[in-house]
Amino acid sequence: MTAAFPEGFVWGAATAAYQIEGSAGTDGRGVSIWDTFARTPGRVRNGDTGDVAADHYNRWRDDVALMRELGLTAYRFSISWPRVQPEGKGVPNPRGLDFYSRLVDALLEAGIEPFVTLYHWDLPQALEDAGGWPARATAERFADYAGLVFDALGDRVHHWATLNEPWCSAFLGYGSGVHAPGVQNGQRAVEAAHHLLLAHGLAVEVMRAAGGPDAKLGIVLNLEPRRPASDAPADVAAARLADGMLNRIFLDPLFAGRYPEDVLEHLAAHVSLDHIREGDLRTIATPIDSVGVNYYRPLTVAARRGEPLRGGAAPAANWPGEEGIGALAAGLSTTAMGWPVDATGLDELLVRLRDEYTALPLYVTENGAAYDDKPNGDGFVDDVDRVAYLAGHLHAAHRALAAGVNLRGYFVWSLLDNFEWAEGYDRRFGLVYVDYATLRRTPKRSALWYSAVIAANGLGAG
Ligand code: FCB
Repeated sequence: MTAAFPEGFVWGAATAAYQIEGSAGTDGRGVSIWDTFARTPGRVRNGDTGDVAADHYNRWRDDVALMRELGLTAYRFSISWPRVQPEGKGVPNPRGLDFYSRLVDALLEAGIEPFVTLYHWDLPQALEDAGGWPARATAERFADYAGLVFDALGDRVHHWATLNEPWCSAFLGYGSGVHAPGVQNGQRAVEAAHHLLLAHGLAVEVMRAAGGPDAKLGIVLNLEPRRPASDAPADVAAARLADGMLNRIFLDPLFAGRYPEDVLEHLAAHVSLDHIREGDLRTIATPIDSVGVNYYRPLTVAARRGEPLRGGAAPAANWPGEEGIGALAAGLSTTAMGWPVDATGLDELLVRLRDEYTALPLYVTENGAAYDDKPNGDGFVDDVDRVAYLAGHLHAAHRALAAGVNLRGYFVWSLLDNFEWAEGYDRRFGLVYVDYATLRRTPKRSALWYSAVIAANGLGAG
């Protein structure tokens, strides 16, 4: 064994409601911002929508059986807010909650620990119409919703994350507008980021008050190293600001109860910060029990050179002032998303979290890669590139463990090929291939490989 993991290490795979469920109009589900966005021509590649997705809403029993066959010990999934509260407020829709209750029972029955994420980007459209995340009231609605779901599932679910990647909700949703609701307004994006953090804190307070000692509450962040292209002061400053606007803008409020000074100073030069109220930071820093890290890539950045940081196709900056910063290719290989592959960013981030922020248990809640998967004549996907990506990153996770990081588990993104947001069905991240014409599932080589890793509790030679 070249990398043995600790006993009890959690081996999982992750999905999200809108990306896999389909059945967009079933059992009283309301409309989410992603339904609206995907149905708007020009927003999603090929005009794809999540109306059918991987049809998990109908095939969940088979999917749990598949997870059991692969030997997963945990499954991270998200709850669709508009299934539970079609209009984003008020009494819950029992059919929506029942779906997740049955899923949780089936997982437990299969010996698979459920890790629930309350919000993976599918805001009820009615709340967007009332102002969306730039409106403070949305944070309060989220806390109500969190309480409802916790009441229904908290007796069986122990691992909770409030939000998935609030950076994306705020800055892709309201800044560059490449994600729903497709707004391009730096002021709104900054307000959204704050209200997402506030929503997290309020929800933790509600669940903490309702839950016993078994409830482990946390948040999932997309963290990425921002490496300066050179040691020229302008590049170093660009990398520092880019780090502030991605990583520290969430980590400092959560763990130190304040925004980073340099970030505040930068933002104040571009937008109003009047939405930040007395006491908010205290709520945001309410103690949690674990942190989820989604890691895909590092970026090398420079002052005003290279590709815009937001990626060539985005119509606007993600955050105010981002225009002065560019991303450089850095000579790394890339995935089908165009994302550079460098596993060292993962242990770097995990060690940094431990050194600069927290000794709490950490989970890698997403890690994976899109490649151009094509079934061969036998219908098998021989995705050796994905196996190499995952193996490299598991070695990185193992290095973090060896460095003493309190890493408890690892989740591959994703269990199944699914609706990859603005890229539609064109980008496949699954361990399991989905034929979208028949919705048939076929484990790829990476699924079989991962299954062997789990069985061995680590990586063998090679
Ligand atoms: C993350 C998202 C997840 C998936 C992967 C590829 O940002 O959380 O839903 O789209 O990227």
